[in-house]
Amino acid sequence: MHILNKIMTSSTNKPGIADAYDRWAETYDADPNPTREMATAVLRQLNWDLSERDVIEIGCGTGHNTEWIAEHARRVIALDFSEAMLQKAKARLHSSHVQFLYHDIRLMWPIAAASVDFVIVMLVLEHIENLKTVFAEAARTLRVGGGLFLCELHPMRQVLGRQAEFRNPETGKQECITAYLHDVSEYLNTGLCYGFELVHMGEWRDTNTLRSEMPRLLSLQLRLLNKHST
Ligand SMILES: C[S@@+](CC[C@H](N)C(=O)[O-])C[C@H]1O[C@@H](n2cnc3c(N)ncnc32)[C@H](O)[C@@H]1O
Repeated sequence: MHILNKIMTSSTNKPGIADAYDRWAETYDADPNPTREMATAVLRQLNWDLSERDVIEIGCGTGHNTEWIAEHARRVIALDFSEAMLQKAKARLHSSHVQFLYHDIRLMWPIAAASVDFVIVMLVLEHIENLKTVFAEAARTLRVGGGLFLCELHPMRQVLGRQAEFRNPETGKQECITAYLHDVSEYLNTGLCYGFELVHMGEWRDTNTLRSEMPRLLSLQLRLLNKHST
């Protein structure tokens, strides 16, 4: 994997990814963001029956997908390491079957082994340098037969220089958030290493664009076959 060149420019002395999301949290939901909107639509096309199921969402951000997941699932545990994003999510959603946890997903998740049915990851993995920790934790916490769904900025688009960025509402300056390039094969092979099989792969273009245009999003729907890892 490679770190993208257009690495963040921070207007403050808090250069981390979590700090950048803290600065973005206030305007994240209102900012025009076709990538977030498309990912939202892609998640809602997922043919999973979440009813009576336990779900982990990692990198839940302000919780707009958490809200939709919570409408369908029995229990949702949503993790994020930006306090300001989590505050927005908590303000959005008060429900006894939803738990928000402040946690860095690069570390072991504070969730019991084989305790959930689905793990959902929306627009998070570009910020994770080593995918193995995330796939390992998904495999550990999922019950065998459980599903992992991820939807990420397509690597072809990353190669064109796209990455999560926002206009800092306080300074008016554009900030790029540290991002790492993962090829499609890296996502897939890491999943295979941790006992997943591929159920469906999606490459999502904007409507009315040519086939020659780069897809905006990559989605992978995986199923945990066994607990064996390499
Ligand atoms: C682009 S936002 C996506 C938020 C939400 N999933 C969505 O689709 O709108 C990425 C989120 O991932 C979170 N994130 C990035 N790296 C993380 C890490 N190592 N641990 C926990 N959360 C992380 C950020 O704080 C941010 O809220």
